[in-house]
Amino acid sequence: METSPSLEEASRNRLAKSQSWSNHVSIQNMSKLVAVVSLSFAFACAYIVLAPISNQRVDCSLITTTRSGLSSSNEASFLDSTANYSLSSVLPRFLHHPARTPEASITLDQTSSPVPSATGSTGTTLGNIVFGIGASSQTWEQRHKYIKLWWKPGIMRGYAWLDEPVKNWPDSLPPYRISENTSHFENARMVGPRSAIRISRIVSEAYRLKLPNVHWFVMGDDDTVFVAENLVQVLSKYDHNLFYYIGSNSESHRQSLHFSTEMAFGGGGFAISYALAKSFESMQDACLHRYPTMYGSDQRVHACMTELGVPLTKELGFHQMDIHGDAFGILSAHPLAPLVSMHHLNAIKPLFPNMSQDQAVQHLLKATQVDPAGILQQSICYDRKRSWSLSVSWGYVVQVFRGILPPKELQIPTRTFVSWIEFSDKAFTFKTRPLPNDTCLHPIRFYLENVAYGGNKHSTTIYKRAQATANDCSLEMASHSTLKSIRVVKEKVSAAWFKVRRRQCCRLIDSDTTHLHIYVGSCREGEIIA
Ligand SMILES: *[C@@H]1O[C@H](CO)[C@@H](O)[C@H](O)[C@H]1NC(C)=O
Ligand SMILES: *[C@@H]1O[C@H](CO)[C@@H](O)[C@H](O)[C@H]1NC(C)=O
Ligand SMILES: *[C@@H]1O[C@H](CO)[C@@H](O)[C@H](O)[C@H]1NC(C)=O
Ligand SMILES: *[C@@H]1O[C@H](CO)[C@@H](O)[C@H](O)[C@H]1NC(C)=O
Repeated sequence: METSPSLEEASRNRLAKSQSWSNHVSIQNMSKLVAVVSLSFAFACAYIVLAPISNQRVDCSLITTTRSGLSSSNEASFLDSTANYSLSSVLPRFLHHPARTPEASITLDQTSSPVPSATGSTGTTLGNIVFGIGASSQTWEQRHKYIKLWWKPGIMRGYAWLDEPVKNWPDSLPPYRISENTSHFENARMVGPRSAIRISRIVSEAYRLKLPNVHWFVMGDDDTVFVAENLVQVLSKYDHNLFYYIGSNSESHRQSLHFSTEMAFGGGGFAISYALAKSFESMQDACLHRYPTMYGSDQRVHACMTELGVPLTKELGFHQMDIHGDAFGILSAHPLAPLVSMHHLNAIKPLFPNMSQDQAVQHLLKATQVDPAGILQQSICYDRKRSWSLSVSWGYVVQVFRGILPPKELQIPTRTFVSWIEFSDKAFTFKTRPLPNDTCLHPIRFYLENVAYGGNKHSTTIYKRAQATANDCSLEMASHSTLKSIRVVKEKVSAAWFKVRRRQCCRLIDSDTTHLHIYVGSCREGEIIA
């Protein structure tokens, strides 16, 4: 989370530079970095093993890989024998050796949470969400332009949380509230902005308002854009009467390793179920006092989540956007998950050419009014006759490639962007691929021109060629240089897709030298992408 981009980003950079173990990134440095992290995990594990556990040796691999390695009776003796294992004695070690939490190591026993609801629909609607927007009076003026793009006054509930009152607050924005005074909290090393303490308390302060019918508290920054319809669908999968902490981590490997691969990065937004918010509120202030040296608000929330024993439930549609450059690579190969949020829009190139970033985001959101779940979803098909590969990233861009590229290639993001701290084109938390050196193998991009029709079942969107000049080359393959526009008729994504996801299939329906007409919809029996 952040309030002041210059301050926060400067300190994030300073913080990263001060890390002795990695001043600039290369593959070798990255592997050292991984080594440091796994060593520190090994340390944490060894520490546990040293505790007398009857006469049994506990193998670290059992702890790191699978819970079934510890039978329930072993688990009980394990806990008894470490009863003297005080938090304060271990805490400093964990602080100085941030351990990477292995995935799938622990499944939570959530029996302590109130009345688990019956299975089935949780009935969550937009009205059951309370948004908490981390903001400040000083940066509000330049940053609220993104909130206007997604906030629906009268339909959405929530507040922008400020440090000081602001005059002339428009009705088109969420109302603001002034955060409680946090000057009694220590910010020991001043590595991060003081406001991080204030912003980390938004969920607790929002809980204390005792608003009726709340299922979820959703945090975001003042420059985070949400696709609210998708957020609702994503949260509806989870029972708000149980403990859930939902979000995603950073695109940049170093950020994820430094802060935690299991932390919800605040700019991308995260959701806390009502039941969890209740427990969190009751312990947060005490918890904050135990972590005075942290950097961000999201890091403080994460620390308290670890004390509550609640893991991050990752949803791939939350985007911290810890990148610079052109987000095209990420957005055109979006994971098979609904787009929920985007952050750092000021740090990346406008999403559409020839537009300012707020115009571009507004343009992208046009398609979400027609088929929110479909936005950015990639469908892949081929023009066999001319040996072209077609990739539709719905509502955003269609790419035409010379040659037949399999889906396993086309669904990997191309490196049109660099990482957050070190501006490297390699250090990401997901696989990427370079653009081919031969420009004649580069795709031609057709960006969304307009949404021509949006009905109950289908939509029609038009995409227009971006490059003005022909991208011709000597390859013995049909040239796509005369193509001007592409029409995509698409079946809307069904509600069932949120539970069981599958790429929609696409088919080239019709074409001439200047236009393509593509259909996107459910795959037919036996239809594959090849
Ligand atoms: C608990 O730990 C403290 C300090 O490490 C030690 O002095 C004490 O004897 C321990 N108590 C038991 C019951 O092991
Ligand atoms: C916050 O509390 C401190 C200490 O009680 C006080 O000095 C300060 O003026 C307060 N700030 C505001 C904005 O009320
Ligand atoms: C860029 O936008 C302006 C105004 O919106 C328009 O007149 C111009 O033709 C556009 N240029 C391109 C290359 O699309
Ligand atoms: C592209 O060019 C660079 C620099 O000339 C070279 O190092 C790299 O191996 C080339 N990549 C491919 C895929 O040919």
